[in-house]
Amino acid sequence: MAVKDPSAQKFMGMSLLPRGQHVTTPEKHIATTDFPDMAGMNRELEDFLVKKAAERLQQEGKQSFSKSVKIHHVDAWDIPAAQFIDERAKAFFREITGFKTSVVDLSWANIYHKGDYIMPHAHSRSQGSVVYVVSMGDEDRQDPMSGKFLISDPRLPLCCQADGTYMSNSYVPDFKAGSMIVFPSSIVHMVTPYRGERPRITLAWNINEAELPPRSKEESIGIPPHPGKAGMKLIS
Ligand SMILES: [Fe+2]
Repeated sequence: MAVKDPSAQKFMGMSLLPRGQHVTTPEKHIATTDFPDMAGMNRELEDFLVKKAAERLQQEGKQSFSKSVKIHHVDAWDIPAAQFIDERAKAFFREITGFKTSVVDLSWANIYHKGDYIMPHAHSRSQGSVVYVVSMGDEDRQDPMSGKFLISDPRLPLCCQADGTYMSNSYVPDFKAGSMIVFPSSIVHMVTPYRGERPRITLAWNINEAELPPRSKEESIGIPPHPGKAGMKLIS
């Protein structure tokens, strides 16, 4: 019998899921982990995305605090760190869901500036969502809840701990740079207002076991067309 070894999946010479990687599962189908090998790649992602976000803000101006700046299509960014983390997110999805395949329906970066937040929402066209933390930005001593990702869904026992029949509490994973979470895309989640100066940056993927039909015109509002996978030369 073949022994399952997730660490055998390599990309750019690195294990996508390193041997001994500790995964926390606070609820069925929700899993978090911290990757300690991402410091250099996080710097690369941060430099790339801070520049992209500044360009976007210069072109379009500030649209709303209720939106982060979004840069879509992680696999289209021509930097090694983006290619690696895109493969790692798909591998983590496969590992947690047990699916043998993982097809990204949509991926993007969120760059939060001071005052930005995301309203409670869930995602359509997707079985699992993955969020990865590039940078938590600045901590706020007056508000420990600044820029926190949280899950608040009355269908989860995790959020109904008082007596099990109503939502009594949110789940706030202890994120840091390098943290990754996978959760069912239908679960309600949000990001609290961010108060720091340095941008807070996360990446997000909506992933399915199999490819879906193309997005409708209505579903495509606000999403730029995919420019094609980055053509960089990868070391394997
Ligand atoms: Fe989301």
